[in-house]
Amino acid sequence: MYREIAVFTGNSHRALAEAVCKHLEIPLGNVQVFQFSNEEVFVKYEENIRERDVFIIQPVVSPVNTRLMELLIMIDAAKRASAGRITAVVPYYAYGRSDKKDQPRVPVTARLVANFVEVAGADRVLSMDMHAGQIQGFFNIPLDELTAFPLISDYFSSLHLPAPCVVAPDVGRAKLARDLAERIGADIAIVDKKRDGNKEAAEAMTLIGEAAGKDCLIVDDEVLTGGTVASAVKLLRARGANSVRVACVHPVLAPKAFQVLDTPDLDEIVFTDSLPLVHGEFKSVKSTVLSIAPLIGDAIHRIHTGGSVGALFR
Ligand code: R5P
Repeated sequence: MYREIAVFTGNSHRALAEAVCKHLEIPLGNVQVFQFSNEEVFVKYEENIRERDVFIIQPVVSPVNTRLMELLIMIDAAKRASAGRITAVVPYYAYGRSDKKDQPRVPVTARLVANFVEVAGADRVLSMDMHAGQIQGFFNIPLDELTAFPLISDYFSSLHLPAPCVVAPDVGRAKLARDLAERIGADIAIVDKKRDGNKEAAEAMTLIGEAAGKDCLIVDDEVLTGGTVASAVKLLRARGANSVRVACVHPVLAPKAFQVLDTPDLDEIVFTDSLPLVHGEFKSVKSTVLSIAPLIGDAIHRIHTGGSVGALFR
């Protein structure tokens, strides 16, 4: 067994790391992570981590490449400080959308990032609702993938909506929508979405299923520009939905999302605190944040003690 848990964070999301430590009833570890004037990242652990079970909490948020380098350099520094084991806790795994070679002469960057994390010296990865299941297989080290959808479905069950209908904003999320609909006893509908090449523009073409008179809940892993869900919201309203809500795990939320989603057509947007909101806030639409800190904290505790992580979801 390793010595005691030590949790550290870079500059991605200190509030989440502090909330995880509060749940674990341990102090957040002391580490310096900053950039020199030439933009190079520097890391120094300010406490002894020799043989300790080190967890580095660092979702890869904007500025993505800087936060990724912070994560890699923190792993390297922990390795060289003789940490017993290093777990990269990356609730949001950036570059996850680049998970396959679906056009000629393009990279599979999600795989490249996995290689970086391993080469830096991580022994394990703890992530949440990655964009695609196959990303797990890009790692040759153990990876635990948590899901926040039970949290989201419990929240929606608590609203006691009269005619709930879970909506997949594209066919890729159909299974997720079905699972959630079964969990909360709702109907299901699927949007047929079209994207124009690599442009960040999405169009909801048609709806498979009924929206008239329904309380619709659009579910997605992440929202970036908001184009996918804004287009689905319009379509559902046009088809006579009674209410429309959006839920996502990762609020990547580029500046544009705060414009297109702050609309009276939307009753509520729900997301987790897997990422901080770095590009703005919602002014008129109701936004609800569900914290993943207890889930991450429980998973860390189970990894440290050799308990089952899967049992968290049974
Ligand atoms: C796509 O497959 C994802 O699940 C999301 O729908 C997508 O990343 C959202 O992007 P945007 O908000 O820019 O439409």
